[in-house]
Amino acid sequence: MSDFIEEGSKYLIGNYARYPISFVRGEGVYLYDSKGKKYLDMLAGIAVNTLGYSDPELTKAVCEQAGKIIHTSNLFYIEPQIKLAKLLVENSCLDKAFFCNSGAEANETAIKLVRKYFYDKGQPEKYEIVTFTGGFHGRTIGSLTATAQPKYHEGFKPLLQGIKYAEFNNPESLRKCINENTAAIMFEFIQGEGGINPIDNKFLDEIKKIAEDKDLLIVVDEVQTGIGRTGKLFAYQHYDICPDIVTLAKGLGGGIPIGAVLAKDFIAEVFKPGTHGSTFGGNFLATTAGIVVMEKVLSDNFLNEVKEKGEFLENELKKIGLNPRGKGLMIGCPLPENIKASDVAKKSLEKGLIIGTAGGNTLRFVPPLIIDFSEIKEGIDILKSII
Ligand SMILES: Cc1ncc(COP(=O)(O)O)c(C=O)c1O
Repeated sequence: MSDFIEEGSKYLIGNYARYPISFVRGEGVYLYDSKGKKYLDMLAGIAVNTLGYSDPELTKAVCEQAGKIIHTSNLFYIEPQIKLAKLLVENSCLDKAFFCNSGAEANETAIKLVRKYFYDKGQPEKYEIVTFTGGFHGRTIGSLTATAQPKYHEGFKPLLQGIKYAEFNNPESLRKCINENTAAIMFEFIQGEGGINPIDNKFLDEIKKIAEDKDLLIVVDEVQTGIGRTGKLFAYQHYDICPDIVTLAKGLGGGIPIGAVLAKDFIAEVFKPGTHGSTFGGNFLATTAGIVVMEKVLSDNFLNEVKEKGEFLENELKKIGLNPRGKGLMIGCPLPENIKASDVAKKSLEKGLIIGTAGGNTLRFVPPLIIDFSEIKEGIDILKSII
């Protein structure tokens, strides 16, 4: 083990279970560690590196921007922030954007928007948000509370007031959570950390119906599913729905930290000067990266290819006896109890393949969206030799 890796346990808080590996360089979908070993990356920094590593345009844009201005503050207008907002708004059914730095922060913002919206409407009693078992929304107290998984809550109580949990894909359970205090329903179209669990179409219809009947906002967490991951720019575009609030992060910056919240005008307007903010949110560097990522994802045939490559990945996984689920390049394979997903991920790593795991003993494939068919095949061949 390199000296600096050993020093990690001395100087870093130990909240991550890290592999004793450190990468020094990346190109396309490949990473190279400090010993020169090559890895095929089908995890992409956990659904972050949309354009893989060392994308020439992203690198150039970020370097050039860094040489001009990295950060001012939101006391001033920031040109790339406005350009990125325009790209997001004009390619979605939402009207306005707010920028922050992570998925958790985007979800905190969404929770605040929901509360402020009903407060300003003269209905402060409407503050409860219903979220779902198996969901994941982040690690800050608000987003952690929204994450209906007790294992993440242990040791951190008391949690935020006003979040209720319903069983995912269970309309009856959802109905039981709704009362005169309910303000919003918040969910992922495909639960990522929870095990790549897609929403049922009928359940989504039920959410829409309840939201309409009871005057509730629909908040969708597209932190993992957004920015082309599922073969559409936003996962909501696979369904007949326009959410009121969409949260984004991960893939939007292609590796540069960024979060965003998109909202319809009638909600966005409740954030007046002084109501919310984020020092780094939407700074020059992050939003410059976001523009490059968005332009590439929106370029000719890019999303179509994500869809086709996703279908290819699913078929290849089926051929080696797995049961894939998901959409586009967000695919999970639940494993039988006798095979631990974490063991498979570890063995894959030894053989130069990086894959992830998710809840419910699931293997998770969220590669860079630029992966090609032969690279997918290469990954499957490595996996086949293990399973
Ligand atoms: C759906 C979803 N929401 C929110 C988050 C939290 O994002 P971050 O780690 O950037 O705070 C994640 C992270 O995995 C996620 O998958």
